[in-house]
Amino acid sequence: AKKILFFGDFGVDDVIALLYARMDPSIEIVGLVTGYGNISEHNAEDNALFLRALTKAEGSIDIIRGAYKPYTGAFPHYPEEIHGKFGLGPLSPYSANIENKRIHDYSKAVDLIKRHRNQITVVNVGRLSSLSSMLVLYPEVAEMIKEIYVMGGAFFTPGNVTPVAEANIYGDPYAANLVFTVQKKVKIIPLNVTNFAILTKDMIQIITTYCKDPSIGPIIKEIFDYYFEFYQETNATHSNTGAPIHDLLALWAAFHPEYMNYIEAPVTVVVEKGDAYGQTIADVRISDQKEDYPLQHIAIGFNYQAFIQSIFSAFTKED
Ligand code: BDR
Ligand code: CA
Repeated sequence: AKKILFFGDFGVDDVIALLYARMDPSIEIVGLVTGYGNISEHNAEDNALFLRALTKAEGSIDIIRGAYKPYTGAFPHYPEEIHGKFGLGPLSPYSANIENKRIHDYSKAVDLIKRHRNQITVVNVGRLSSLSSMLVLYPEVAEMIKEIYVMGGAFFTPGNVTPVAEANIYGDPYAANLVFTVQKKVKIIPLNVTNFAILTKDMIQIITTYCKDPSIGPIIKEIFDYYFEFYQETNATHSNTGAPIHDLLALWAAFHPEYMNYIEAPVTVVVEKGDAYGQTIADVRISDQKEDYPLQHIAIGFNYQAFIQSIFSAFTKED
């Protein structure tokens, strides 16, 4: 199985991605780095503990404390209307019987990467504050990470926080800019692509009814229904039957390169205050005048049928 170090902000789509990871035997999550974003860092720790206990993975997954603030120092805003008070829609993580509450400090993330040199794929589906801090404090690990997948940014179409900025980037543009301009081999799965990674109510019903693990099915339904309401009310993706599971697409992309399409370009993030704050800019000009930044892969499309097929096979029983 492929080893994943998961940097998340533990809201609804992060959680669905993690539950998927636990149901697909080709995925091995080695660590969860708990960042702020959809919820506070503190709540993210509780969600990570809850999910680990729920999926009976206490012996195999390390939980690592990530960033609780962006580099601007501003106090984060948590979008309760999308992810719920605790990031689990109407549910709370406190009902679980959690035996192992150990939270590692950040050096554990570095240890994992060093121990499994060139074997760990990072999937970052929250703000980039924790990951960029690692590149500043431990630059030697940059070359030891096998691949990095980032759910974030909006290219060529509107953002979801401002007309041009997506939440994971807008939440800490300095961190995102650092990762994109310093780190090599980043695969960016942006909002304009993840907006099409839609799960419908009917699909969730099938997953709930035929879920291989009876303790997981009902949780997916409750958290999805809450999240779906938000997308219905705002009509953010012009789909009246479903809601986009952004973070699941970024994780899935790491396992299905054959179903992803990318372009290559250097990427920078606008950090100056103003209308463009948090915008991701890809320099797709065909010229040699580009700034001297690494080329990143930016997803422009994916095979939706294959995506849905993988989700059904991971979650549901054969017949
Ligand atoms: C991203 O922001 C968060 O709300 C979601 O979990 C996802 O990672 C979408 O813009
Ligand atoms: Ca997220």
